[in-house]
Amino acid sequence: MDGPWVPKGILVCLLVALLPCAMLQSLASGARDRIQLREEARRMFYHAYDNYMQYAFPHDELKPLSRTYTDSLAELGNLNHEHLPEHYNGTALTLVESLSSLAILGNATEFVKAVLWLGENLSFDVDVRVNLFECNIRLLGGLISAHLLAIEFFEGLIPGGYKNQLLHLADDLGQRLLPAFETPTGIPYAWINLKYGVMMDETLETSTSGCGTLILEMGALSRLTRNSKYEDAALKALRKLWSMRSSLDLMGTTLNVATGTWIQHSSGIGAGVDSFYEYLLKAHILFGGQEYWDMFRQAYVAVQQYFRHGPWYHEADMRTGRATYWQLTSLQAFWPSVQVLIGDVVAANATHREFVSVWEKHGVIPERYLLDIGSIHPTESYYPLRPELAESTLYLYQATKDPWYLDVGEKLLTSLNNLTRVDGGYASIRDVTTMELEDHQHSYFLSEMCKYLYLLFDDTFLSNRNYIFSTEGHPLPVLRAWQQWTPSVPPKAITESKGEAETEHTNSSAMESQVCPDFRGLSLSPQRVESACHVLDGHEDHRCTSDDGCGIDAATCRKRTCSSVGYCGLWKKG
Ligand SMILES: *[C@@H]1O[C@H](CO)[C@@H](O)[C@H](O)[C@H]1NC(C)=O
Ligand SMILES: *[C@@H]1O[C@H](CO)[C@@H](O)[C@H](O)[C@H]1NC(C)=O
Ligand SMILES: *[C@@H]1O[C@H](CO)[C@@H](O)[C@H](O)[C@H]1NC(C)=O
Ligand SMILES: *[C@@H]1O[C@H](CO)[C@@H](O)[C@H](O)[C@H]1NC(C)=O
Ligand SMILES: *[C@@H]1O[C@H](CO)[C@@H](O)[C@H](O)[C@H]1NC(C)=O
Ligand SMILES: *[C@@H]1O[C@H](CO)[C@@H](O)[C@H](O)[C@H]1NC(C)=O
Repeated sequence: MDGPWVPKGILVCLLVALLPCAMLQSLASGARDRIQLREEARRMFYHAYDNYMQYAFPHDELKPLSRTYTDSLAELGNLNHEHLPEHYNGTALTLVESLSSLAILGNATEFVKAVLWLGENLSFDVDVRVNLFECNIRLLGGLISAHLLAIEFFEGLIPGGYKNQLLHLADDLGQRLLPAFETPTGIPYAWINLKYGVMMDETLETSTSGCGTLILEMGALSRLTRNSKYEDAALKALRKLWSMRSSLDLMGTTLNVATGTWIQHSSGIGAGVDSFYEYLLKAHILFGGQEYWDMFRQAYVAVQQYFRHGPWYHEADMRTGRATYWQLTSLQAFWPSVQVLIGDVVAANATHREFVSVWEKHGVIPERYLLDIGSIHPTESYYPLRPELAESTLYLYQATKDPWYLDVGEKLLTSLNNLTRVDGGYASIRDVTTMELEDHQHSYFLSEMCKYLYLLFDDTFLSNRNYIFSTEGHPLPVLRAWQQWTPSVPPKAITESKGEAETEHTNSSAMESQVCPDFRGLSLSPQRVESACHVLDGHEDHRCTSDDGCGIDAATCRKRTCSSVGYCGLWKKG
C-alpha cells in the first residue's frame, strides 16, 4: 500500500514492457498425460500431509525446514505472540484443512481416523486470541465441509457410526465466534479469544474481507444446526458493510467496527478486500435469492469500471474512483475464477494469462509487483505458496476444457516441486528474487493448492455433483433445501440431511453453470454498462477494438462480438 500514483500513459508503456517473451512462446505441450499429473498432485499432497502429521500434528502448521511446528492460528497477525497459553497444543489446523482434500483423494481410512481423533481430542475451550476471518474460513469452513463429506461418503465406515462429531465442533466454534459481532455496528471485531470472547482494548480496525467473508460458513452452519443466529450475525454485518459503499459502489480496505467509518479509502480486488466480492456471488449461488446477487452485480460492475485496466486491476480511491496504486498482488489471481462463475470467461482468460506470464517470468508469483516501475515490490517479494493461480486455472479449464490450462497446471506443479519442495514438506519462498526459503508450510497449501491441481487433472469429484468451493477451497454442496431455507421454515434435521444431499445433486458443477442472471433491477444506465456480466474497458469512447473486449451477453450468455464501428453486441457475423 505504498506505491505512488502514476499517470495511465506510463502504465500502458510498462504493461507492454511487462509482457514477457514467455507469453509469446506457447507452453510446452504436456508431455505427461493427465493421470501422471494427477498422481504427481496426489504425491504433492501426501508429502505435505505426511510431514505435517509426523512433525507438527496436533499443532497448527508444519515448519518444513526445521521439521517442527507453529501454532499459527493464534500467531497469524499476532506478531508479538500475545495471549498464547502455556503448553498450548494448537487446533490441528492443517489436519482440519486436509479433511476435504482427503475425501476428494478418496482416502477413507485417513479421513475416518481424523474424524475420530478430532471428535475426541479437539477442544476450542482454550485461552487463545484468534483472527476471526482466518478461524472462520480455515477451521469452521474445514469442519463444516468435512461434516457434509462425512455424511455423503464415509458414514458407514466410521466405527460406531458418524455422530456428527465435526458438526458439534463447528457449532461449538461458531458460538465462540459470536461475541465478536457485539459491536455498535454489528460488524465484528477482527480478533476474538476462543475462551473469553473479545479482549480488553481489542483493536477496532478490521478489513473489508475480514468482516465480509463470513456468510458462507455462518449461513451453512445455521442451516445445519437449524439455528439462524450464525447467519443473522454474518448477514447483519454484511448489510452494514455494504451500506458503507461509496456513491461509486466501491469499498475501502479497512474500517472501524465501532463507528462504521472507513480508515483506508483505497481498495482493489486484492489483499484486504478480495473474498468479500467472492462471497457475495457464492452466497447467491449457495443460498439463492436476489439480495446477494444485487450486491454482487453492483460491486462487480464498479470493479470493472474503476479498477480494471485492460487485463490488469489496479487500486483506486473509493470516493473518487481515481487510481491510487498501480500494483499487482498475488491474491488478485483469484479474480478470473469469480468471472468464470458469472460467465465472463473471455475477461477471465485474459487476466489469467497475464498472471501466468508473471509466474513464468519469476517461477512463482511475487506477493506484490509494481506495475509502475515494472519490478517486484522491495519488501513484499515473498511467495507464501498461494494457490490463487491454480484456482483460476481449474475454473477456466472447467469452463472451456481447453487443454492449454492443463499445461499451465503442469507448469505450476513443476515449479512448486522445483522451488519449494524440501525433505520436510513444502516451504514458502521468503524472497522470489533469491528463492530463499522460509520455514513455513501454510495449511491452505493442502486445502487449496493440492486440491485444485488434483481436480484439474481428475475432475471425477465434480462431474456428478454441484459443489462450490469456499475461499479456502472447502467444497459445499448446492442444495435446493438450503436455498429455500429461512429461519422460520427450518430444513430437515441434521441426521436427515443425507437424503437431501443425495437427491439434490445435479450432474453439472457450479463451475460450468456460469450464473449469468438477467438485467432485472439493474439501476445503472445502459450507456455506462452494457452487460451485467461484462463492462467495457475505460476507453474514452467506450468502443471496442476486438471481440475479446466484449465479453458475453448477460441475458443470453452468448459471446458478444465487436461491430465494424466499435460497439459490442450480439452481432451476427458476416
Ligand atoms: C498439550 O499436550 C501435552 C502432551 O500431550 C499435554 O501434557 C498438555 O496438557 C497439553 N496442553 C493442553 C493445554 O491441553
Ligand atoms: C491414506 O493416507 C495415509 C497417510 O498418508 C496413507 O498411509 C495411505 O496409504 C493413504 N491411503 C490411500 C488409499 O491413499
Ligand atoms: C486422542 O488423543 C490421545 C492422546 O494423544 C490418544 O491416545 C487417542 O488415541 C486420541 N483419540 C483418538 C480417537 O484418536
Ligand atoms: C484465451 O486467450 C487466448 C489468447 O488470447 C485465446 O487464444 C483463447 O481462445 C482464449 N480463450 C477463451 C476461452 O477466451
Ligand atoms: C528449477 O529452478 C531453477 C532455479 O530457479 C531453475 O534454474 C531451473 O530452470 C528450474 N528447473 C525447472 C525444470 O523448472
Ligand atoms: C447424471 O449422470 C448419471 C451418471 O453419469 C446418469 O446416469 C444420469 O442420467 C445423469 N442425470 C442427468 C439428469 O443428466
